[in-house]
Amino acid sequence: MATANARKPLISGNWKMNHNHFEAIQTIQKLAYALNSADYAHVDVSVHPSFTNLRSVQTVLQADDIPIALGAQNVHMASHGAFTGEVSANMLTKLNVSFVIVGHSERRALFVEDNEVVNEKARAVLAANMTPIVCVGETLEQRRSGGAQDVVGEQVAHSLAGLDAEMVAGLVIAYEPVWAIGTGETATPHDAQLMCAYIRSLVTELWGDAAAQALRIQYGGSVKAATAPDLLAQADIDGALVGGASLDPAEFARIANFRLYQP
Ligand code: PGA
Repeated sequence: MATANARKPLISGNWKMNHNHFEAIQTIQKLAYALNSADYAHVDVSVHPSFTNLRSVQTVLQADDIPIALGAQNVHMASHGAFTGEVSANMLTKLNVSFVIVGHSERRALFVEDNEVVNEKARAVLAANMTPIVCVGETLEQRRSGGAQDVVGEQVAHSLAGLDAEMVAGLVIAYEPVWAIGTGETATPHDAQLMCAYIRSLVTELWGDAAAQALRIQYGGSVKAATAPDLLAQADIDGALVGGASLDPAEFARIANFRLYQP
């Protein structure tokens, strides 16, 4: 069945701080086995292992020519230097990483990354010819107080500040309401669509219609195989950023194949 719009959906698995490199190899092998070339014609798939597992997963993907994109969960904004414990965008490029998550709510909340930091990281990713997946999303209090749109709008405008329309057209924004991450609570398809449509209208305002129409917007927050088809049927939802459910390759493959389960 046709997807809701012309943009090719991107389904990304954020493995977070899970899997040692042996488990990561097993997971990517099982996932590759569960997807076939017909699936990749309909959907782009990326996996985001920890830094220590990138090389192992890259080797599996390359050896068997598997069209799953390799992604990272974070990056440092500087190109090199005295930043103990950090990893630069160029190091990721050399491992064939093509997508990098920046500004995940866990990074924003636990590692105090503000919109300025997210902006610098997004620029570093773009400068190294990779695609940032820029995460935005409101907390429960912000939603309850009616301020969700303002918060998300500010995150989008500031996290992408100074980028030109061509850069914005090529990137991915992940709308992840903080209250839905890892909680089993998913935004309703209607609420998720409303916010994603708002994000796209803001991008139109700031960078023009061509950029807004090309940009892919993912929804994230407790996405499961059972909830993915309804979410991804929405006009402005072009993919999913999946945490917990991406650790199970069979479940994640069903999410990637949401088209087979369209409502
Ligand atoms: P979740 O995580 O699917 O476990 O809610 C999503 C995310 O944090 O990207």
